[in-house]
Amino acid sequence: MLGDENPSEAGSQGANAVAQTERRVDAEIFKAVMRRLAGGVVVITANDNGNLYGMTATAFCSVCADPPTILIIVNRSTRTHPHIQTTRKFAVNILSDRQRDIAERFAGKLSDQFAGVDYILPPDGSPAFVGAAASLQCDVTQCIEIGTHTVFIARVADADAAELTPLLYHSAKYHRLSAIN
Ligand SMILES: Cc1cc2nc3c(=O)[nH]c(=O)nc-3n(C[C@H](O)[C@H](O)[C@H](O)COP(=O)(O)O)c2cc1C
Repeated sequence: MLGDENPSEAGSQGANAVAQTERRVDAEIFKAVMRRLAGGVVVITANDNGNLYGMTATAFCSVCADPPTILIIVNRSTRTHPHIQTTRKFAVNILSDRQRDIAERFAGKLSDQFAGVDYILPPDGSPAFVGAAASLQCDVTQCIEIGTHTVFIARVADADAAELTPLLYHSAKYHRLSAIN
């Protein structure tokens, strides 16, 4: 355990470990660092007794393929969060580069977010968008609360992909994929 080492045995490595736990990264620097990372854009949807919710997110990633598991990170202040927590279900829609308007729509505070949006509602599932690059229906297996957010780890119960290129987000702007030849 940190701090248990005999300083003479831990040597300079032990001293570095202690120094690192005391270091604080400035919030603005942290945000500037994270803006350097480009990512895909998803809309997380939830269906709570027929009431539909959705929010744009970039905090989505694969955990492992066996069993098929993903995670999302959701701010507890969002309207969608309590419904994921209650139903323990959600869908992830990986947006295609034709769906920037949907990304913007679900990042806002519209009262009727789903108006004019084409989606399929599977039995006992959450909205899967028509025209998305992929959609996954997920069942929550674990929740971890960290600061303002919850990490939802979930088993993928159903998944579908289309031959469409994904929408990207980098440095507060939407982008398209282009290959380096
Ligand atoms: C590109 C982009 C990515 C975002 N990623 C996340 C995310 O990963 N997690 C999160 O909690 N909010 C994220 N947000 C913010 C939510 O989309 C935003 O707070 C939304 O208004 C929440 O909607 P709700 O309150 O209706 O659920 C992101 C916003 C944008 C524009």
